[in-house]
Amino acid sequence: MSRPAGLTLRDAAASDLDAIWQIESDVFGSDAWSREMMREELAADHRRYLVLVDVDGAVQGYGGLLIVGQEGDVQTIAIAPAARGNGHGRRLMRALLHEAEQAAVREVFLEVRADNPVARGLYRSLGFEELGVRPRYYQPDGVDAVIMKLETKGGR
Ligand SMILES: CC(C)(COP(=O)(O)OP(=O)(O)OC[C@H]1O[C@@H](n2cnc3c(N)ncnc32)[C@H](O)[C@@H]1OP(=O)(O)O)[C@@H](O)C(=O)NCCC(=O)NCCS
Repeated sequence: MSRPAGLTLRDAAASDLDAIWQIESDVFGSDAWSREMMREELAADHRRYLVLVDVDGAVQGYGGLLIVGQEGDVQTIAIAPAARGNGHGRRLMRALLHEAEQAAVREVFLEVRADNPVARGLYRSLGFEELGVRPRYYQPDGVDAVIMKLETKGGR
């Protein structure tokens, strides 16, 4: 498969469900949300979901935030394997954090598998700090979840 060139960022739509869930199930395996959970998530209140699409309109990445009051949570983020390592994950995270700041969020939280050094490195480089660990949170693998927090510029 050829590597996608420039990708365009846009709001996710309900019609993106199949493409998003395809990546979700391929990438997260036993940790993946069900298609129904993903459908509900895209339609739910207090969510901001973005997708990255290639020149053919195919979704190559997605990410979403839950925003309640002054608190945000990164619900999920993934880049299709063929598109990784080109700065798209960083761009998508920055866009989600921009959305959070626009919504006057002061603190953004996320959980990441302890055995995911790429994602942990990305989050640390964006200013997230590791708060603690939920032991064996990810089942059936028994992998710890690392809880991370970022104070947004608006909150400083
Ligand atoms: C985590 C993920 C979203 C990053 O997306 P990406 O487009 O590959 O990342 P980027 O190209 O923007 O790189 C961002 C940073 O990740 C790190 N990184 C990227 N690829 C890496 C690799 N192969 N090895 C080590 N670090 C890597 C680097 O710190 C990089 O920063 P840089 O700008 O200094 O190079 C992507 O790897 C992914 O979808 N992974 C599977 C799903 C997942 O783990 N989601 C997070 C769940 S919490």
